[in-house]
Amino acid sequence: MLNFELYNPTNLVFGKGQMEKLADLVPKGAKILLAYGGGSIFKNGIHEQVINNLKGHEIVEFSGIEPNPHFETLMKAVAIVKEQKIDFILAVGGGSVIDGVKFISGAVNYQGDPIEILQKRILIKENAVPFGTVLTLPATGSEMNSGAVVTIESTKEKLAFGGSALFPKFSITDPTVIQSLPKRQLQNGVVDAYTHVMEQYLTYPHEGHLQDRIAEGILHTLIEVGPKVVEDPANYELASNFMWSCTMALNGLIQKGVPSDWATHMIGHELTAMYGIDHARTLAIIGPSLYKVMFETKKAKLAQYGKRIFNLEGTEEEVANEAINKTVEFFHTMGMDTKLSDYTKEYNNTAEFIVKRFEERGWKGLGEKQNVTLEKVKEIVEMSY
Ligand code: NZQ
Ligand code: ZN
Repeated sequence: MLNFELYNPTNLVFGKGQMEKLADLVPKGAKILLAYGGGSIFKNGIHEQVINNLKGHEIVEFSGIEPNPHFETLMKAVAIVKEQKIDFILAVGGGSVIDGVKFISGAVNYQGDPIEILQKRILIKENAVPFGTVLTLPATGSEMNSGAVVTIESTKEKLAFGGSALFPKFSITDPTVIQSLPKRQLQNGVVDAYTHVMEQYLTYPHEGHLQDRIAEGILHTLIEVGPKVVEDPANYELASNFMWSCTMALNGLIQKGVPSDWATHMIGHELTAMYGIDHARTLAIIGPSLYKVMFETKKAKLAQYGKRIFNLEGTEEEVANEAINKTVEFFHTMGMDTKLSDYTKEYNNTAEFIVKRFEERGWKGLGEKQNVTLEKVKEIVEMSY
């Protein structure tokens, strides 16, 4: 097993009715920036619950953090935090709002142009404005990790950043909030979390047996509850297992001591930046092609996955191949289209465009063995058309 450090200071407050604890979780006397998205929190009553539990605090509201949050929007909040001398930020929303708040938190005291946090991928290790979250959409794991993804609208770049100062102080995760989610977002949540596990599991055989078994446990659970929770989000047993699986998929635990990939995400982010395709759907487009193109690197692990997750039998080659087909089948069950041409008809130069961007950024070898070269990226994207 590889050496590792496990640091995760987020206080995860999970379950029905946990919103009541908000008053105790927020620092006493803090002036709060309440940050949220396009208004779903007004329709499902979460805004009212938050306000009721923050009585006595001075609150400044910042609305309009869009899906795939924009740097340009977030910089307006940075200005407000500085002008209004905000002490604490509360993110109420899905991955986009939480990621947006991570950027605001890091940018306020950043010495330099905050766009560098994205373009130079600056690690934020100190001087972040403290923040907490109320999660409304299980998917990204952002509620219990220190990473985030922000889009620069002017250049259409979607870039990841993070750092140890960007863990939420607390996250309230109440599975009943998923009842107001559109089916599409529930489907997205399952497939995003599933792919997070795949990025950390589907590499090559290693000595992290426990990490593998935990990863497989999350995959099994998502396969079991995913299709059902989309149809019955009011079922607490389904909702709670779905929500906890999403958090566990990307709170750092299963990544410790083992290799990880993340190339599907890096390529997928480009499809969102170019065509506005939902994050999870870009993963359903790219993942299966990546597994095929990188078959020799991933074959042994694909076979383990096929045997343990889908009970497949046969030679290593056969099981590995069939495991990819089963994954695509699962994505279809979860309502995903898995080809780029299902989303846009203007896809012809996508591969060249992405390769050029990666080249400019110096990303010459992605993946667990840095062998997803630019040629491979081209092949993967073209196979996804
Ligand atoms: O903006 P509002 O009105 O709130 O509506 C949102 C939004 O339109 C709506 N929604 C959220 N909770 C709801 C709800 N509607 C009804 N009821 C509720 N309870 O859902 C829509 C999508 O929200 P968004 O936050 O964009 O979705 P998600 O949580 O999937 O986040 C996606 C973003 O997270 C990034 C993605 O790249 C993307 O930008 N990721 C962040 C990661 C991280 N920080 O670790 C890892 C992921 O791989 C991912 O890259
Ligand atoms: Zn993701």
